[in-house]
Amino acid sequence: MKRVFVNGYGSIGSRIIQFIADDRDIEVAGVGKYSPDEKVGDAISRGFKVFVPKNKIDHFKNFDISGTIEDNISDCDLVIDASPGGIGYENKKALYEPRNIRAIFQGGEKITGEKTVASFIFNSRVNYEKAFDKQFAMQGSCNVTGMGRIIQPLKEKYGKKIKRLDATLLRRWADLEDSKTIVKDSIEWSYNPHHDEDVKSYMGVDTPLFIRAFKVPTRQMHVHAMDVRFDGPAPSAEEIINLYKNEYGVATLYGVKGTKDIRDYAESIKFSFKDTNMIHIHADLTEVQDDVVKLTYSDDQTGIVVPENHLLMQAMLFKRKKEDAFRHTEELFHMYEKKRMLEAHFKERINNTV
Ligand SMILES: NC(=O)c1ccc[n+]([C@@H]2O[C@H](COP(=O)([O-])OP(=O)(O)OC[C@H]3O[C@@H](n4cnc5c(N)ncnc54)[C@H](OP(=O)(O)O)[C@@H]3O)[C@@H](O)[C@H]2O)c1
Repeated sequence: MKRVFVNGYGSIGSRIIQFIADDRDIEVAGVGKYSPDEKVGDAISRGFKVFVPKNKIDHFKNFDISGTIEDNISDCDLVIDASPGGIGYENKKALYEPRNIRAIFQGGEKITGEKTVASFIFNSRVNYEKAFDKQFAMQGSCNVTGMGRIIQPLKEKYGKKIKRLDATLLRRWADLEDSKTIVKDSIEWSYNPHHDEDVKSYMGVDTPLFIRAFKVPTRQMHVHAMDVRFDGPAPSAEEIINLYKNEYGVATLYGVKGTKDIRDYAESIKFSFKDTNMIHIHADLTEVQDDVVKLTYSDDQTGIVVPENHLLMQAMLFKRKKEDAFRHTEELFHMYEKKRMLEAHFKERINNTV
């Protein structure tokens, strides 16, 4: 039994802790909260012990908190840091390094420069075993994780025949449950999006990937339009779609009108947190023109990184064999069943509208 503390109870932290609480090999040591708001009561009502920073303890007088983060994390085997982007670095310096505690950070952190949290980005499809001896590791962001799931099978099958991967990322503005962020009526762009460096850090710096990223006013997932240019004629759309048939965490869907369609279906069949935990290839948008395959897929921003954190945790804490770790994650997340249901639902719908 290993003790794990989750530092942060927002979109990502609240999901991670809920799933690992059902893991028989893990004792959840508690969760870190920083604001005395309604989410403190929510965490306690779900059975989690809530810990707060020493210097803020007076703000939490009206809540039944269990102690301070500083005192509680010392005897933990691992902290999963789920703080806002950039704050993970501060936690590393103030909390984890001085206590020599191992930690997983989330995708809003940096892997280069002054505020580096780790030199390693995890992607279970690409580098599972490399996480075994790490003290600090970063789980790639939702977009970075999704791109790994698309590019790795292409790379394994076609290798150097791929000349370029040009991806346009349409990113959601805020998460569904994020009531603090106002979704602006604007389309904004990122200069030097971090996704490029992050993906290349684990796929190889020579990956011919070129990214443009735009933030669009929606709370419902991301969409990536990726053009894969081959050296010579491109494979057929059918061959590309077949490549992902048995990929973990990749569903192939037909007849989807938009990202909300998928969330609505996930909600209707009571997937936890309305998450599918995967990417969805939109098969009827996949086209081939001469040497280019045009792929479109959507990426469940909040859900996709949660099973990945569970896999990374198993690699770091137990050095479990990859297939055993995936089996164990499957017991908690039921990804095969989710994929099967999503694919059956959207296929049936298109059949009914033909
Ligand atoms: N949201 C997504 O779809 C998504 C997907 C992939 C990766 N990520 C990454 O995951 C990380 C967390 O994102 P999120 O969307 O979950 O953020 P979020 O919803 O804003 O939640 C952040 C949480 O961190 C807490 N917090 C504040 N200061 C903290 C500190 N010093 N140490 C630890 N926790 C602190 C906040 O506590 P209080 O509320 O109590 O102040 C809040 O519970 C980011 O790196 C983000 O880039 C997010």
